[in-house]
Amino acid sequence: MKALVLAGGKGTRLRPLTHTSAKQLVPVANKPVLNYGLEAIRDAGITSVGMVVGDTGSEIMRAVGDGSEFGLDVTYIPQEAPLGLAHCVLIAAEFLADEPFVMYLGDNLLVGGISSLVESFRHRPCDAQILLTRVADPRLFGVAELGPEGEIVGVQEKPLVPRSDLAIVGVYSFSPAIHQAVRAVRPSARGELEITDAIQWLIDTGRSVRSHVVTGYWKDTGRVQDLLECNRIVLELVEQDIRGTVDGLTEITGRVSVEPGAVVENSVLRGPIVVGADTKILSSYVGPFTSIGPECVIQDAEIEDSIVLGGSSVHGVSRVAHSLIGRNVEVSRAVGTPNIHQLVVGDHSKIQVRA
Ligand code: G1P
Repeated sequence: MKALVLAGGKGTRLRPLTHTSAKQLVPVANKPVLNYGLEAIRDAGITSVGMVVGDTGSEIMRAVGDGSEFGLDVTYIPQEAPLGLAHCVLIAAEFLADEPFVMYLGDNLLVGGISSLVESFRHRPCDAQILLTRVADPRLFGVAELGPEGEIVGVQEKPLVPRSDLAIVGVYSFSPAIHQAVRAVRPSARGELEITDAIQWLIDTGRSVRSHVVTGYWKDTGRVQDLLECNRIVLELVEQDIRGTVDGLTEITGRVSVEPGAVVENSVLRGPIVVGADTKILSSYVGPFTSIGPECVIQDAEIEDSIVLGGSSVHGVSRVAHSLIGRNVEVSRAVGTPNIHQLVVGDHSKIQVRA
């Protein structure tokens, strides 16, 4: 069995971070989202991975290389434009040959991995096995309609009037029959070849399509609030692990991971949190569900429920919360003039200040 990992796309909903970085490489608990998927594929016993990449391909290649670091053998498949998930299967046909495969969307995170679902596909092969989960707003996803016996009646991509609240999770298992399906479908209203339409084609032509409703945690990390929620869920699993230097004036409660080279002085850390390598936390409060990347400085500041990427600083500011701060960002107190907010912010940024 092979895996097809989709790591292209534009990531417009995660701007401004995705102006300079691939959405699949945004970190959750200080680890790129994509790594969780690659580890899950390896843990399911699959080593041969085709990775579809787009505009951000060179950055993905730098991060993943030949895959050996993950115990994988990665082949890159360039996609000239984001033309849809079924288009990815189309251009990967040669790589996939006539083997069954798992298709994994690189910005999806399934806590608990994919081993059991790959196992069930191996034991009971079918033409498509899809995963479903109940969501509050199914209009944002592919949606499945089930019959009385739990069988799949139909699937629709982002319907305006959903027939159920069962969203299609971004991890699919396919037999080689999918190749015929992706050749048969036509572009959707948004101009993409939809994998949902290819699955509907399998249903319509009498192929075996099965679904599992998953209750474990799944998230498409396409939006900031989803990313922060993912960060909270993954941080719940963090183990206490202090490898940096924490002074005697610092108070730690809950599970905290401090990576090597990090220095914490005169601060309050309330886990779960992760602190990246060579980061300094000085006279500050870092509250629950915060991931601070490597080489950051948090000084005389308060921050919680946030993600801070590498090389950034937060200085003299209280209290930053529910925030996503990119790389090499400086957040500090405006000095000299009272009562002003001084901003130097990139395109598509979002700032919320107390008026
Ligand atoms: C894609 C699929 C959709 C699926 C979702 C899961 O949507 O088209 O059917 O439910 O992934 O993450 P996209 O993220 O491309 O909008």
